[in-house]
Amino acid sequence: MNKKKILLYGFGTVGKGFYHIYQDKKNPAFELIGIIVKNLTKHSPADVPIHAYNTDNEKILFSQADVIIECTSNYGEGRDIILNALENGKTVISASKKVLAENLSEIIQVREKHKAKLLYEAAAAASIPVFKALYQHFSDEKIKNFKAILNGTSNFILTKMEAEGLSYTKALEQAQQLGYAEADPFLDVSGWDTAYKLTLLTFAATGIILNPHQLFIEGIDNLTFQDIYLAKNNGLKIKLLAIADIEKEIYFVCPAFVSDELANIDEAFNAIKIEYEYAKSQFYAGRGAGKEATGSAIWGDLNLSQNILDTHTKPVQKATLTNTYGYWFIRLNEPSYTNVLYSKVKEILTYNKMQNYYIVHASLFSLQELKKLAPNTQIIRIEHQETLKLFTQQSVSYSFQF
Ligand code: HSE
Repeated sequence: MNKKKILLYGFGTVGKGFYHIYQDKKNPAFELIGIIVKNLTKHSPADVPIHAYNTDNEKILFSQADVIIECTSNYGEGRDIILNALENGKTVISASKKVLAENLSEIIQVREKHKAKLLYEAAAAASIPVFKALYQHFSDEKIKNFKAILNGTSNFILTKMEAEGLSYTKALEQAQQLGYAEADPFLDVSGWDTAYKLTLLTFAATGIILNPHQLFIEGIDNLTFQDIYLAKNNGLKIKLLAIADIEKEIYFVCPAFVSDELANIDEAFNAIKIEYEYAKSQFYAGRGAGKEATGSAIWGDLNLSQNILDTHTKPVQKATLTNTYGYWFIRLNEPSYTNVLYSKVKEILTYNKMQNYYIVHASLFSLQELKKLAPNTQIIRIEHQETLKLFTQQSVSYSFQF
């Protein structure tokens, strides 16, 4: 049998996850010819049983490989590996959401020019085969919108704070120990990791290439126990959501008060609720981070890569971002930011002096400006009318309308 030769770049959580499954399966269709790690001293020989470390060896292995699995955590290296492999017509399987999302246009062009295959199921929602659903099964169906929990680390932190009263720092430490967090966990908690995943899912769903730097991105890094318990005491949960309303051209990342099925997604699980043209609403849930979840996604891509010709079935389109108004919970970090808030927000429905939060009606773009002028402010999306009612009815002391 003509085995497919695989070269693996990176041996962190994802690389190890893939290697574990590769060893377990002993699939005669594949042969791992090398593992390229940047710093061999970080790994014991038992950890990296086959490896190439010097550049000459790497070049030889690269020329022999049919499939390149890229799961480094280094932005520059990851980008070079992906582009170089595609330019050489190799099949590329990548888990690097930041590299893919920030260079999507170029990567897709190179892929098309060289007729190479590119798969990245591990780059968003890990074990959930949502990309495959989007570009295979639903390739000829319009996707109206989706709403998703895409960062396992943030979801884990929120769950631990809410259910166990664990501090933010302790919960983040645990997420790091469990292999959920990025090498730089700022990406997880600031919402950027979710924004990269939103970009990749939007592309698979529509062919639209978003620029993550143009999106409104709010993380969970300034949330307090007050916010978490405010939600809990009112039968709600706070979840970091990626929202894509494709019909209305609205895309953003923000924590939200939720009470629908997304509220039941805890720990490092991810979930995606998609509204299709004919299939209507579908809900996908599964493990979103960690060794086995990401390893499984890479393994699935490797198997699929043998049978498919193309993974990009919708024509590439430029993105248009439309402004929208919505209801938001805003906790200011500094009293001096109050003036900024008043200058950016159309309508303040409630001000709660005791807990220092505002319920406002504001546009997405004005919130983007507010965040620039008032950093560390925590914004939480109010998704449902019932939640808005709850806050406005319970609120005390102050109501102001421009
Ligand atoms: N750091 C990521 C997360 C890993 O927590 O979701 C999986 O992409």
